[in-house]
Amino acid sequence: MAIEYREWHDGDDLALLEIWGDPDTAQARQFRGALAPSSNGRNGTPWRRCVVAEDVIDGVGIPVAAGVVYEASLHPERLWTYIEVAKDHRRTGIGASLLTMLRREAAHAPSGITRLRAKVEPGTAGAAFAEAAGLAPIQRSRLVIVEPGALRLPVFPDKDHGGRPIDGENAGADIVMDLATGSVELTDVVGRYYTAIHGWDSPGVLSVGQVQKLFLDELTGAHGAIVLRAQPESAFGAGVAPGRKGRIRAFAVSYAAPAGPDDAPHTEAAGSTGTDTPTDVFVGHEPALAADDAAEAVRDMLALIAYQHPVMLELDDSMTALRAAVEPLLAGGKARLAGAETLVVSD
Ligand SMILES: CC(C)(COP(=O)(O)OP(=O)(O)OC[C@H]1O[C@@H](n2cnc3c(N)ncnc32)[C@H](O)[C@@H]1OP(=O)(O)O)[C@@H](O)C(=O)NCCC(=O)NCCS
Repeated sequence: MAIEYREWHDGDDLALLEIWGDPDTAQARQFRGALAPSSNGRNGTPWRRCVVAEDVIDGVGIPVAAGVVYEASLHPERLWTYIEVAKDHRRTGIGASLLTMLRREAAHAPSGITRLRAKVEPGTAGAAFAEAAGLAPIQRSRLVIVEPGALRLPVFPDKDHGGRPIDGENAGADIVMDLATGSVELTDVVGRYYTAIHGWDSPGVLSVGQVQKLFLDELTGAHGAIVLRAQPESAFGAGVAPGRKGRIRAFAVSYAAPAGPDDAPHTEAAGSTGTDTPTDVFVGHEPALAADDAAEAVRDMLALIAYQHPVMLELDDSMTALRAAVEPLLAGGKARLAGAETLVVSD
Protein backbone atom coordinates (compact mmCIF):
# COMPACT_ATOMS: atom_id res chain seq x y z
CA MET A 1 0.00 0.00 0.00
CA ALA A 2 1.49 3.32 -1.09
CA ILE A 3 -0.29 6.23 0.52
CA GLU A 4 0.18 9.77 -0.73
CA TYR A 5 -1.23 12.94 0.75
CA ARG A 6 -2.44 15.98 -1.15
CA GLU A 7 -4.81 18.92 -0.91
CA TRP A 8 -8.56 18.40 -1.27
CA HIS A 9 -9.86 18.88 -4.83
CA ASP A 10 -13.38 19.45 -6.07
CA GLY A 11 -14.94 16.08 -6.77
CA ASP A 12 -13.16 14.32 -3.90
CA ASP A 13 -16.41 14.26 -1.98
CA LEU A 14 -18.06 12.03 -4.57
CA ALA A 15 -15.04 9.76 -4.93
CA LEU A 16 -14.79 9.34 -1.15
CA LEU A 17 -18.51 8.82 -0.70
CA GLU A 18 -18.30 5.88 -3.07
CA ILE A 19 -15.48 4.28 -1.08
CA TRP A 20 -16.74 5.18 2.37
CA GLY A 21 -20.42 4.26 2.02
CA ASP A 22 -22.77 5.26 4.83
CA PRO A 23 -21.32 7.22 7.74
CA ASP A 24 -20.54 5.28 10.95
CA THR A 25 -22.20 7.81 13.22
CA ALA A 26 -24.41 10.90 13.32
CA GLN A 27 -21.29 12.99 13.95
CA ALA A 28 -19.64 11.56 10.81
CA ARG A 29 -22.75 12.42 8.82
CA GLN A 30 -22.61 15.99 10.14
CA PHE A 31 -18.88 16.54 9.65
CA ARG A 32 -18.49 15.01 6.21
CA GLY A 33 -20.02 18.27 5.03
CA ALA A 34 -17.00 20.16 6.42
CA LEU A 35 -14.65 18.43 3.97
CA ALA A 36 -14.16 21.13 1.36
CA PRO A 37 -11.39 23.02 -0.42
CA SER A 38 -8.87 24.79 1.80
CA SER A 39 -9.57 28.44 2.38
CA ASN A 40 -7.50 31.31 3.72
CA GLY A 41 -10.44 32.76 5.57
CA ARG A 42 -11.15 35.69 3.32
CA ASN A 43 -14.50 36.73 1.82
CA GLY A 44 -16.41 35.51 4.84
CA THR A 45 -15.42 31.84 4.50
CA PRO A 46 -13.68 30.36 7.55
CA TRP A 47 -10.00 29.40 7.40
CA ARG A 48 -9.82 25.73 6.51
CA ARG A 49 -7.23 23.12 5.60
CA CYS A 50 -8.35 19.88 4.04
CA VAL A 51 -6.05 16.98 3.17
CA VAL A 52 -6.81 13.81 1.19
CA ALA A 53 -4.98 10.46 1.41
CA GLU A 54 -4.75 8.49 -1.81
CA ASP A 55 -3.87 4.84 -2.17
CA VAL A 56 -1.68 4.72 -5.26
CA ILE A 57 -2.20 1.53 -7.24
CA ASP A 58 -0.37 1.11 -10.57
CA GLY A 59 0.35 4.82 -10.61
CA VAL A 60 -3.29 5.79 -10.11
CA GLY A 61 -4.26 7.48 -6.85
CA ILE A 62 -7.60 6.54 -5.31
CA PRO A 63 -8.83 8.75 -2.48
CA VAL A 64 -9.37 6.65 0.65
CA ALA A 65 -9.27 9.13 3.53
CA ALA A 66 -9.55 12.81 4.31
CA GLY A 67 -9.15 15.19 7.19
CA VAL A 68 -10.11 18.77 7.79
CA VAL A 69 -9.37 21.48 10.33
CA TYR A 70 -11.18 24.82 10.36
CA GLU A 71 -11.92 27.94 12.31
CA ALA A 72 -15.38 28.71 13.63
CA SER A 73 -16.79 32.13 14.44
CA LEU A 74 -19.10 30.56 17.01
CA HIS A 75 -16.97 28.96 19.75
CA PRO A 76 -13.78 30.51 18.39
CA GLU A 77 -11.40 29.21 21.09
CA ARG A 78 -10.83 25.90 19.31
CA LEU A 79 -10.59 24.64 15.75
CA TRP A 80 -12.96 21.90 14.59
CA THR A 81 -11.38 18.82 13.11
CA TYR A 82 -12.70 15.72 11.40
CA ILE A 83 -10.91 12.72 9.90
CA GLU A 84 -12.34 9.72 8.10
CA VAL A 85 -10.58 6.67 6.69
CA ALA A 86 -12.13 3.99 4.45
CA LYS A 87 -12.96 0.90 6.49
CA ASP A 88 -10.52 -1.37 4.63
CA HIS A 89 -7.68 1.09 5.23
CA ARG A 90 -8.16 1.62 8.95
CA ARG A 91 -5.63 0.79 11.67
CA THR A 92 -2.71 1.37 9.35
CA GLY A 93 -1.81 4.80 10.67
CA ILE A 94 -3.51 6.93 7.98
CA GLY A 95 -5.77 8.66 10.52
CA ALA A 96 -2.82 9.46 12.77
CA SER A 97 -0.79 10.79 9.80
CA LEU A 98 -3.66 13.02 8.72
CA LEU A 99 -4.01 14.33 12.26
CA THR A 100 -0.29 15.14 12.41
CA MET A 101 -0.57 17.05 9.14
CA LEU A 102 -3.66 18.93 10.32
CA ARG A 103 -1.94 19.88 13.57
CA ARG A 104 0.94 21.26 11.53
CA GLU A 105 -1.51 23.31 9.47
CA ALA A 106 -3.30 24.46 12.63
CA ALA A 107 -0.03 25.90 13.92
CA HIS A 108 -0.45 28.50 11.16
CA ALA A 109 -4.14 29.29 11.66
CA PRO A 110 -4.50 33.07 11.28
CA SER A 111 -6.37 33.37 14.58
CA GLY A 112 -3.39 31.90 16.44
CA ILE A 113 -5.75 29.25 17.81
CA THR A 114 -4.23 25.79 17.67
CA ARG A 115 -6.35 23.74 20.07
CA LEU A 116 -8.44 21.12 18.29
CA ARG A 117 -11.93 19.88 19.04
CA ALA A 118 -13.98 17.04 17.51
CA LYS A 119 -17.25 15.22 18.04
CA VAL A 120 -17.27 11.46 18.54
CA GLU A 121 -19.65 8.79 19.75
CA PRO A 122 -18.57 6.81 22.83
CA GLY A 123 -17.51 3.24 22.09
CA THR A 124 -16.70 3.86 18.42
CA ALA A 125 -13.44 3.79 16.45
CA GLY A 126 -13.59 7.60 16.41
CA ALA A 127 -13.68 7.75 20.21
CA ALA A 128 -10.76 5.28 20.53
CA PHE A 129 -8.78 7.22 17.95
CA ALA A 130 -9.44 10.52 19.73
CA GLU A 131 -8.34 9.05 23.05
CA ALA A 132 -5.15 7.67 21.49
CA ALA A 133 -4.51 11.11 20.01
CA GLY A 134 -4.79 12.80 23.40
CA LEU A 135 -8.19 14.40 22.78
CA ALA A 136 -10.18 14.08 26.00
CA PRO A 137 -13.92 14.66 26.51
CA ILE A 138 -14.85 18.22 27.48
CA GLN A 139 -18.60 17.73 27.17
CA ARG A 140 -21.22 15.01 26.81
CA SER A 141 -24.46 15.68 25.02
CA ARG A 142 -27.60 13.55 24.88
CA LEU A 143 -30.75 13.86 22.85
CA VAL A 144 -33.65 13.12 25.20
CA ILE A 145 -37.36 12.56 24.60
CA VAL A 146 -39.58 13.45 27.52
CA GLU A 147 -42.86 11.53 27.47
CA PRO A 148 -46.14 13.40 27.91
CA GLY A 149 -47.31 13.90 31.46
CA ALA A 150 -43.97 12.86 32.92
CA LEU A 151 -43.93 15.81 35.30
CA ARG A 152 -46.65 17.23 37.49
CA LEU A 153 -48.03 20.54 36.27
CA PRO A 154 -47.08 23.53 38.38
CA VAL A 155 -49.80 25.01 40.57
CA PHE A 156 -50.18 28.71 40.03
CA PRO A 157 -51.17 31.04 42.86
CA ASP A 158 -54.86 31.94 43.01
CA LYS A 159 -54.06 35.38 44.38
CA ASP A 160 -52.05 38.06 42.65
CA HIS A 161 -49.16 39.81 44.32
CA GLY A 162 -51.51 42.37 45.78
CA GLY A 163 -53.52 39.60 47.43
CA ARG A 164 -56.51 39.93 45.11
CA PRO A 165 -58.10 36.64 44.11
CA ILE A 166 -57.61 35.43 40.54
CA ASP A 167 -60.37 33.30 39.10
CA GLY A 168 -59.35 29.74 38.21
CA GLU A 169 -59.09 30.24 34.46
CA ASN A 170 -56.74 33.16 34.75
CA ALA A 171 -54.43 31.64 37.33
CA GLY A 172 -50.96 31.66 35.85
CA ALA A 173 -51.90 34.02 33.00
CA ASP A 174 -49.30 36.55 34.08
CA ILE A 175 -46.74 33.81 34.73
CA VAL A 176 -46.89 31.62 31.61
CA MET A 177 -46.89 33.68 28.44
CA ASP A 178 -46.40 33.25 24.73
CA LEU A 179 -43.67 35.42 23.33
CA ALA A 180 -42.82 36.20 19.72
CA THR A 181 -39.54 34.56 18.68
CA GLY A 182 -38.39 38.01 17.56
CA SER A 183 -38.80 39.40 21.09
CA VAL A 184 -35.78 41.34 22.36
CA GLU A 185 -36.42 40.13 25.92
CA LEU A 186 -36.42 36.49 24.75
CA THR A 187 -33.34 36.95 22.56
CA ASP A 188 -31.48 38.45 25.50
CA VAL A 189 -32.17 35.58 27.91
CA VAL A 190 -31.55 32.89 25.27
CA GLY A 191 -28.16 34.42 24.41
CA ARG A 192 -27.10 34.78 28.04
CA TYR A 193 -28.25 31.23 28.84
CA TYR A 194 -26.35 29.78 25.88
CA THR A 195 -23.20 31.61 26.98
CA ALA A 196 -23.65 30.52 30.60
CA ILE A 197 -23.89 26.81 29.75
CA HIS A 198 -20.83 26.98 27.50
CA GLY A 199 -18.22 27.91 30.08
CA TRP A 200 -16.33 24.83 28.81
CA ASP A 201 -16.05 26.23 25.27
CA SER A 202 -16.93 29.89 25.08
CA PRO A 203 -19.14 30.93 22.18
CA GLY A 204 -17.42 34.33 22.19
CA VAL A 205 -19.40 37.55 22.28
CA LEU A 206 -22.86 36.85 20.88
CA SER A 207 -24.69 39.72 19.23
CA VAL A 208 -28.48 39.95 19.27
CA GLY A 209 -28.41 39.18 15.53
CA GLN A 210 -26.31 36.05 16.07
CA VAL A 211 -28.63 34.74 18.78
CA GLN A 212 -31.58 35.31 16.46
CA LYS A 213 -29.82 33.54 13.62
CA LEU A 214 -28.77 30.59 15.75
CA PHE A 215 -31.97 29.89 17.65
CA LEU A 216 -34.88 32.09 16.81
CA ASP A 217 -35.23 33.21 13.22
CA GLU A 218 -37.34 31.48 10.61
CA LEU A 219 -34.45 29.52 9.11
CA THR A 220 -33.86 27.76 12.44
CA GLY A 221 -37.41 26.42 12.24
CA ALA A 222 -38.34 28.23 15.47
CA HIS A 223 -42.07 28.65 15.45
CA GLY A 224 -43.08 29.51 18.96
CA ALA A 225 -41.83 30.42 22.39
CA ILE A 226 -43.29 30.46 25.84
CA VAL A 227 -41.81 31.90 28.98
CA LEU A 228 -42.35 31.36 32.64
CA ARG A 229 -42.23 34.64 34.51
CA ALA A 230 -41.69 35.55 38.12
CA GLN A 231 -44.87 36.87 39.73
CA PRO A 232 -45.20 40.51 38.82
CA GLU A 233 -44.52 42.83 41.70
CA SER A 234 -45.82 46.33 42.06
CA ALA A 235 -43.26 49.02 42.59
CA PHE A 236 -45.73 50.51 45.05
CA GLY A 237 -46.02 47.45 47.24
CA ALA A 238 -48.77 44.99 47.91
CA GLY A 239 -52.27 46.17 47.10
CA VAL A 240 -51.27 48.22 44.08
CA ALA A 241 -51.71 46.54 40.70
CA PRO A 242 -48.31 45.78 39.22
CA GLY A 243 -47.60 47.79 36.13
CA ARG A 244 -44.90 45.53 34.76
CA LYS A 245 -44.57 41.87 33.94
CA GLY A 246 -42.36 39.72 36.14
CA ARG A 247 -38.98 38.87 34.72
CA ILE A 248 -38.42 35.69 32.72
CA ARG A 249 -37.36 32.68 34.82
CA ALA A 250 -37.46 30.01 32.10
CA PHE A 251 -38.08 29.83 28.37
CA ALA A 252 -38.92 27.17 25.79
CA VAL A 253 -38.53 27.62 22.06
CA SER A 254 -40.15 25.01 19.84
CA TYR A 255 -38.98 24.09 16.36
CA ALA A 256 -40.93 22.86 13.38
CA ALA A 257 -40.58 19.16 12.60
CA PRO A 258 -37.83 18.58 10.03
CA ALA A 259 -39.28 17.89 6.60
CA GLY A 260 -36.61 16.81 4.12
CA PRO A 261 -35.23 13.30 3.63
CA ASP A 262 -31.86 14.56 4.90
CA ASP A 263 -33.43 14.91 8.27
CA ALA A 264 -34.96 11.46 8.30
CA PRO A 265 -32.59 10.02 10.95
CA HIS A 266 -33.70 12.74 13.29
CA THR A 267 -37.33 11.76 12.83
CA GLU A 268 -36.47 8.08 13.12
CA ALA A 269 -34.54 8.76 16.26
CA ALA A 270 -37.64 10.36 17.67
CA GLY A 271 -39.12 6.91 17.42
CA SER A 272 -42.72 7.79 16.74
CA THR A 273 -44.94 9.07 14.02
CA GLY A 274 -47.95 11.25 13.40
CA THR A 275 -49.08 13.65 16.04
CA ASP A 276 -46.94 11.97 18.67
CA THR A 277 -43.71 12.92 16.95
CA PRO A 278 -41.79 14.74 19.67
CA THR A 279 -41.46 18.46 19.20
CA ASP A 280 -37.90 19.74 19.17
CA VAL A 281 -37.48 22.25 21.97
CA PHE A 282 -34.77 24.40 23.47
CA VAL A 283 -35.43 24.92 27.17
CA GLY A 284 -33.40 27.19 29.39
CA HIS A 285 -33.55 29.65 32.23
CA GLU A 286 -32.42 33.05 33.38
CA PRO A 287 -28.77 32.28 34.19
CA ALA A 288 -28.73 34.63 37.17
CA LEU A 289 -31.27 32.48 39.08
CA ALA A 290 -30.03 30.55 42.10
CA ALA A 291 -29.50 26.85 41.34
CA ASP A 292 -32.68 25.67 43.13
CA ASP A 293 -34.81 28.34 41.54
CA ALA A 294 -33.44 27.57 38.08
CA ALA A 295 -34.11 23.84 38.55
CA GLU A 296 -37.67 24.54 39.65
CA ALA A 297 -38.32 26.97 36.78
CA VAL A 298 -36.99 24.54 34.18
CA ARG A 299 -38.94 21.63 35.67
CA ASP A 300 -42.18 23.64 35.62
CA MET A 301 -41.52 24.70 32.04
CA LEU A 302 -40.90 21.12 31.00
CA ALA A 303 -44.09 20.00 32.74
CA LEU A 304 -46.05 22.59 30.78
CA ILE A 305 -44.62 21.87 27.34
CA ALA A 306 -44.61 18.07 27.76
CA TYR A 307 -48.05 17.94 29.34
CA GLN A 308 -49.83 16.32 26.40
CA HIS A 309 -47.18 15.67 23.75
CA PRO A 310 -43.61 14.40 23.87
CA VAL A 311 -40.75 16.85 23.47
CA MET A 312 -37.16 16.26 22.42
CA LEU A 313 -34.28 18.29 23.76
CA GLU A 314 -30.52 18.33 23.78
CA LEU A 315 -29.15 17.77 27.25
CA ASP A 316 -25.52 18.75 27.78
CA ASP A 317 -23.84 17.80 31.04
CA SER A 318 -23.23 21.51 31.62
CA MET A 319 -27.01 22.20 31.79
CA THR A 320 -27.26 21.65 35.53
CA ALA A 321 -30.86 22.80 36.00
CA LEU A 322 -32.18 20.81 33.07
CA ARG A 323 -30.30 17.72 34.22
CA ALA A 324 -31.94 18.02 37.63
CA ALA A 325 -35.33 17.87 35.90
CA VAL A 326 -34.58 15.28 33.23
CA GLU A 327 -32.22 12.75 34.81
CA PRO A 328 -34.81 11.45 37.32
CA LEU A 329 -37.20 11.01 34.36
CA LEU A 330 -34.56 9.03 32.47
CA ALA A 331 -33.97 6.87 35.55
CA GLY A 332 -37.72 6.36 36.01
CA GLY A 333 -38.46 5.51 32.37
CA LYS A 334 -40.47 8.68 31.74
CA ALA A 335 -37.84 9.99 29.37
CA ARG A 336 -35.57 8.14 26.98
CA LEU A 337 -32.50 8.73 24.87
CA ALA A 338 -33.19 9.40 21.21
CA GLY A 339 -29.87 8.16 19.94
CA ALA A 340 -26.27 7.69 20.92
CA GLU A 341 -24.43 10.17 23.13
CA THR A 342 -22.06 12.71 21.61
CA LEU A 343 -18.73 13.58 23.18
CA VAL A 344 -16.94 16.78 22.34
CA VAL A 345 -13.24 15.97 22.72
CA SER A 346 -10.34 18.37 22.78
CA ASP A 347 -6.64 18.67 23.49
C1 LIG B 1 -11.27 7.33 13.62
C2 LIG B 1 -10.59 6.94 12.30
C3 LIG B 1 -10.38 8.20 11.48
C4 LIG B 1 -9.23 6.31 12.65
O1 LIG B 1 -8.48 6.13 11.46
P1 LIG B 1 -7.30 5.04 11.35
O2 LIG B 1 -6.53 5.34 10.14
O3 LIG B 1 -7.88 3.69 11.52
O4 LIG B 1 -6.45 5.40 12.66
P2 LIG B 1 -4.93 4.96 12.96
O5 LIG B 1 -4.64 3.66 12.26
O6 LIG B 1 -4.04 6.10 12.64
O7 LIG B 1 -5.01 4.73 14.52
C5 LIG B 1 -4.23 5.45 15.47
C6 LIG B 1 -4.53 4.91 16.83
O8 LIG B 1 -5.90 5.22 17.21
C7 LIG B 1 -6.41 4.12 17.99
N1 LIG B 1 -7.53 3.50 17.27
C8 LIG B 1 -7.95 3.79 16.01
N2 LIG B 1 -9.03 3.04 15.70
C9 LIG B 1 -9.27 2.26 16.76
C10 LIG B 1 -10.25 1.26 17.05
N3 LIG B 1 -11.19 0.91 16.14
N4 LIG B 1 -10.23 0.66 18.26
C11 LIG B 1 -9.28 0.98 19.17
N5 LIG B 1 -8.31 1.89 18.96
C12 LIG B 1 -8.32 2.54 17.77
C13 LIG B 1 -5.27 3.14 18.17
O9 LIG B 1 -4.57 3.49 19.34
C14 LIG B 1 -4.45 3.41 16.95
O10 LIG B 1 -3.11 3.02 17.09
P3 LIG B 1 -2.71 1.47 16.82
O11 LIG B 1 -3.40 1.04 15.56
O12 LIG B 1 -1.24 1.53 16.72
O13 LIG B 1 -3.23 0.70 17.99
C15 LIG B 1 -11.45 5.90 11.53
O14 LIG B 1 -11.79 4.86 12.39
C16 LIG B 1 -12.72 6.50 10.98
O15 LIG B 1 -12.74 6.98 9.85
N6 LIG B 1 -13.83 6.49 11.79
C17 LIG B 1 -15.07 7.10 11.35
C18 LIG B 1 -14.99 8.63 11.38
C19 LIG B 1 -14.68 9.15 12.78
O16 LIG B 1 -15.29 8.75 13.75
N7 LIG B 1 -13.73 10.08 12.89
C20 LIG B 1 -13.30 10.60 14.16
C21 LIG B 1 -13.55 12.05 14.30
S1 LIG B 1 -12.05 12.93 14.28
